[in-house]
Amino acid sequence: MVRFTSVFTCLALLFATSAVPVTIPLGTTGQSLSVSEDGKTISVDGRSINLDQALNARGVCKHEGKKHHGKGGASSNSTAATPGAKAIYFITNAAENSVVALNVATDGTLSDGSITTTGGAGLSGVDSTGAPAAPDSLFSQGAVKTAGNFLVAVNPGSNTLSMFSISPTDPTQLTCLGSPQSTLGDFPVSVSLSTKLSVACVANSGARAGVACLSMTANGLAPLDTALRPFAIGQTTPPSGPENTVSQTFFNADDSALLTTVKGNPAVNNTGFLSVFPVANGAVSMQEARSSPAGTAVLFGTALLPNSNNIFVTDASFGSATLSLNAQNIASVVAKTPIADQKATCWAAFSDVTGTAFVTDVAVNHLVEVDTVTGTLIKELNSTNGNPGMIDLVSAGNFVYALSPGNASVKAAVAVFDVSGGRGTAKEIQNFNPSGVPDSAQGMAFI
Ligand SMILES: *[C@@H]1O[C@H](CO)[C@@H](O)[C@H](O)[C@H]1NC(C)=O
Ligand SMILES: *[C@@H]1O[C@H](CO)[C@@H](O)[C@H](O)[C@H]1NC(C)=O
Ligand SMILES: *[C@@H]1O[C@H](CO)[C@@H](O)[C@H](O)[C@H]1NC(C)=O
Ligand SMILES: *[C@@H]1O[C@H](CO)[C@@H](O)[C@H](O)[C@H]1NC(C)=O
Repeated sequence: MVRFTSVFTCLALLFATSAVPVTIPLGTTGQSLSVSEDGKTISVDGRSINLDQALNARGVCKHEGKKHHGKGGASSNSTAATPGAKAIYFITNAAENSVVALNVATDGTLSDGSITTTGGAGLSGVDSTGAPAAPDSLFSQGAVKTAGNFLVAVNPGSNTLSMFSISPTDPTQLTCLGSPQSTLGDFPVSVSLSTKLSVACVANSGARAGVACLSMTANGLAPLDTALRPFAIGQTTPPSGPENTVSQTFFNADDSALLTTVKGNPAVNNTGFLSVFPVANGAVSMQEARSSPAGTAVLFGTALLPNSNNIFVTDASFGSATLSLNAQNIASVVAKTPIADQKATCWAAFSDVTGTAFVTDVAVNHLVEVDTVTGTLIKELNSTNGNPGMIDLVSAGNFVYALSPGNASVKAAVAVFDVSGGRGTAKEIQNFNPSGVPDSAQGMAFI
């Protein structure tokens, strides 16, 4: 980026004193560089760059390219299109925030892919003593999401969202689109994408807490909402948690409502709630239905259930539950799963292969499988890989990927579980330590 910026600066100076439009041949490459009539846009080989944006926008996201490669030489062959190539993604949530992309092989195992800066900043929430809350730095699920060949990530320290396109031939190759855009609040922690509505909706968990939606376009994110849908949770920036913070925002299966889980604090009789903003006239409305389902207290991560309007949720105070929404979008508990040896059951994913949900705990290194209809605890897989616990996870065909941010003595890892045998058969097949990932990593998405 340093190199690009200085090139643009030179060009800008050149064009300021030249007649426009201008076309300049680029050496012997056969390509040429052209400048728009207003002198503000340059194009090379069909790709345009807005100079105002490139030179003046704070936090234009940067292409750092691939810092490291896995899979031997295969991933460095840029012409080698791998049909159906898969990747998983999470953010570093470091001061210079980045998206980490890992290659997924056909046997489900992981190898290093790329690390791409977002142009925004990461930031950790704090615990009750004011110390950084890592490894549960955002108290959230869904810090990064994919939809089609697009990826959107939160920048908790700069109150922005960054959008990328994902190469169809090498999904670890991310190209930044536009510049990071405001989330209208503080400390964005969770994002949900709707291809149908062409929006990215984001939950903020800091002093200005609440949900806002931005437009998703092929050129990047653009402002849409002018005001936050506020949650008056009285937080600071960064927030002090995990209690009393915003957990996850997500669209329901048919994109007819945007739901958000918000944690309560049982110690002060604050139960937390599920917020529902219906979609009306093609947009997420400002009319909220809010409920605190009896028997829940610290609603956290969620998973949509196939062929059902019910929502599977974790509750950090006891385990997990399945919620049903009535016609007024008021939630009640229809199944409940207390997990005896849990400390903080916070993240959830549903597997179509097993027909069951999996939940993780940041402080107990186990993967727990739950029947979402009856609440029956199917399997507790106690891992012996030495990680302190697991956070955000994603279900991807025959595999489940769960992030362990690690700590000062245990490296960040992604644990890979094979669930191809169906219900009750999950087994760990890899504990992968990605290169160059700090213990602040958050989120998990798959393509
Ligand atoms: C790169 O990929 C192309 C197309 O698949 C293939 O023909 C070529 O042998 C590959 N080169 C290397 C070095 O792997
Ligand atoms: C919490 O709320 C319940 C029911 O409203 C009440 O019985 C109880 O006394 C409250 N506890 C505290 C600590 O305020
Ligand atoms: C997992 O470990 C817990 C203790 O940490 C123990 O109570 C439980 O029985 C174990 N479960 C299995 C299936 O081994
Ligand atoms: C990191 O986690 C491991 C596994 O739970 C634990 O044994 C170790 O004490 C932790 N280290 C620090 C510095 O917290």
